[in-house]
Amino acid sequence: MKEQSPHCVFCGASIAAAPHSRRDGLYCCEGCFLKEKEFRALEKSREESHFSLAEALAAALDEREHQTGLHSRRVACHTLVLAKRFTEDREALRQIHWGALLHDIGKIGVPDAVLLKAGPLSEEEWAVMRTHPEKGRDILARVPFLTEAAKIVLAHEERVDGTGYPRGLAGEAIPWGARVFAVVDTLDAMTSDRPYRKGLSFDEAKGEIFRMSGTQFDPAAVEAFLAEEETLRDMVALKCEKPPFRP
Ligand SMILES: [Fe+2]
Repeated sequence: MKEQSPHCVFCGASIAAAPHSRRDGLYCCEGCFLKEKEFRALEKSREESHFSLAEALAAALDEREHQTGLHSRRVACHTLVLAKRFTEDREALRQIHWGALLHDIGKIGVPDAVLLKAGPLSEEEWAVMRTHPEKGRDILARVPFLTEAAKIVLAHEERVDGTGYPRGLAGEAIPWGARVFAVVDTLDAMTSDRPYRKGLSFDEAKGEIFRMSGTQFDPAAVEAFLAEEETLRDMVALKCEKPPFRP
C-alpha cells in the first residue's frame, strides 16, 4: 500500500516535499514551525513583562515603607511553597505569588501619619488602615493579568472564622490562595524583629499558628504548613526573598 504523505498538524498542508519537523508522530510544516517559534518568543517576553511589572509595583511599596516591602518578598516565597501542595497549575501559582507579593500594595494609599506612625493607632486610624485591602484590589484590578491576584489582595486580611476584614468572609468564601497566604503572613510577622520587640522563634510561631487553626487559619493550610515545616524553617532562617521556583 502506498504510504500517505504527512500533513501539518497546524495548517493541514501536505508536507511530503517541504522541510518540516516531526515530534511524537506529528508533523509541522516549516511555516507553522517558524510561526510557533515566534509565538513562543512573544509569550516569553509577555511573561517577562508581567513579572517585571509586579516587581515594579512591589518596589513602589518598598519605597513607601521599607519593612513592608521586604516582608512582602519573603511571604511571596513562602506562599509558593504551600500553594504548590494544592495545585500544579502554573497560572494559579503565578496569581497567588503576585497576590502575596502585592498583598499590602493598598498601603501606598494610606497617609504617612497613619502608615508610618511610631506609636499605637487610634480607632479612627485603624479604620483608615483597614481600607488597604480594598485600595490594593482597586489598584491591581486595573491590570488585566492581575485580576485573580487582586481577589487575593482583597481577601488577605480575612479570617476563616469570619472575624477578619473588609467583608468578614468565612471558610471557603475566602479564596484559597488568601487562606494559604494568611498562615505565612503570620509566620513572617511573628518571626521578624520589630523596633519594639524581638521576633519569636520558629517553634513559638508554629505553636501560635497551630493554636489558631480553625479560627484565624484554614486547618488545611495549617496542615500544609506542618507538611512543609522543614523547608519553611530554612527559608525563615535565611530570610529568603527569592522564589524557590518560577511559576
Ligand atoms: Fe495587609
